[in-house]
Amino acid sequence: MTKKYFIITFGCQMNKSDSERIASLLELMGYKPAQKINRADLIVVNMCSIRQSAVDRVYGKIFDFAKLKTQNSKLKTVLTGCILKKDRQKFAQKFNLILNIKDLTKWPLPLIMSDRTLLEENYLNIKPKYQTQFSASIPISNGCNNFCSYCVVPFTRGPLVCRDHRKILKEVRKVIKNGTKEIWLLGQNVDDYQSREINFAKLLKMVNDIPGDFWIRFTSSHPNYFSDELIKTIGECEKVTPYLNLPVQSGDNKILKKMNRPYTVARYKKLVKRIRKEIPGIALSTDIIVGFPGETKKQFENTKKLFKEIKYDMAYIAQYSPRQGTAALKLEDNVSQKEKNRREKVLTKILEKTALENNKKYIGKIINILPTKHKNGFLTGKSFHYKTVKLKGKKDLIGKFIKVKIIDALPWGLKGKLL
Ligand code: 5AD
Ligand code: SF4
Repeated sequence: MTKKYFIITFGCQMNKSDSERIASLLELMGYKPAQKINRADLIVVNMCSIRQSAVDRVYGKIFDFAKLKTQNSKLKTVLTGCILKKDRQKFAQKFNLILNIKDLTKWPLPLIMSDRTLLEENYLNIKPKYQTQFSASIPISNGCNNFCSYCVVPFTRGPLVCRDHRKILKEVRKVIKNGTKEIWLLGQNVDDYQSREINFAKLLKMVNDIPGDFWIRFTSSHPNYFSDELIKTIGECEKVTPYLNLPVQSGDNKILKKMNRPYTVARYKKLVKRIRKEIPGIALSTDIIVGFPGETKKQFENTKKLFKEIKYDMAYIAQYSPRQGTAALKLEDNVSQKEKNRREKVLTKILEKTALENNKKYIGKIINILPTKHKNGFLTGKSFHYKTVKLKGKKDLIGKFIKVKIIDALPWGLKGKLL
């Protein structure tokens, strides 16, 4: 009987993209996807360690596995993804195998031997089993050299390794040929990309030059590497969508310094100004950490001020979580849970206001949408500016660009009408 696999993915878009490569490798090895977890012979957990809450969720799963193993004694469990050293030891007793995602090309050895998959050197070159046909996540790099003082990524994923631009372009061409309408170029730091003489701006331009009707999105960026050349390129490339996640992390210079984020609030604001000038109407999102060690009320007020000034469209607000191996671990995590909750709420409230204000500008406008979901007679999808749009419509419009008139705005999205 064919063996079946089930993958559980936690965390960021990069992890989701990695899971697509895991799926494809397992299928090369003869596995088939299990529709339900209790039908699986192999469960792969692709985990995230960015915050403790993510790690705790994996512990929750282990409990379920013990039950599943009583039903299927041959069940194998594999843990991969971003794993901290100290957790590795603990998880080693709970999982049959812990495998590094970077060694994905060598997984068949510990699983079952398969020669074909051993040919590639870089795991990113394994062709993924894309989750959807109309949106494809394509990694351009892996790892990070920045060592922000709170972050585990440089430890779990290692130093920045950029993929050869020719391999990236080849993958893009292939998915476009197969009908993909949205390309996500992924990396922890896409704007730090460099492969031979090709930097991220040049890579964007090359992807933009590929013929076809599709959108190009990318994440994540670091304010320090966001060059004028890149801003100009985004403005000029008609397929590159006017949406940017530009993590600021804090609106206070002292905290930024303690975070090892090498820019000041003034520099960040200037950068946003330049971006908005060159790319009018661009939608901006950010990542923020509240309750970093030693963050005073006054320092948080600075973040609040910046938040109000920038008027973000979206923000990923996280409460500081101490992580093993990071420089910030030496600092006392002295902002109380209650105060972290409060700070998160304050920012969420501001975001609700600014996002709604920004969204209202779309009312009455006709825009393009790429619907990706259908439920109860309603389609949802994203606009060119990465706004969530909901409208009445049929399922067969999924994965096709459609023209929609915006009739209402909410803080978290837009309501539209099919034209
Ligand atoms: N605690 C809280 N948030 C964190 N992030 C990264 N590390 C931590 C941490 N230790 C957030 C940052 C980053 C996003 C991916 O996760 O805001 O941009
Ligand atoms: Fe982590 Fe900083 Fe690298 Fe982003 S830039 S992955 S926050 S170390």
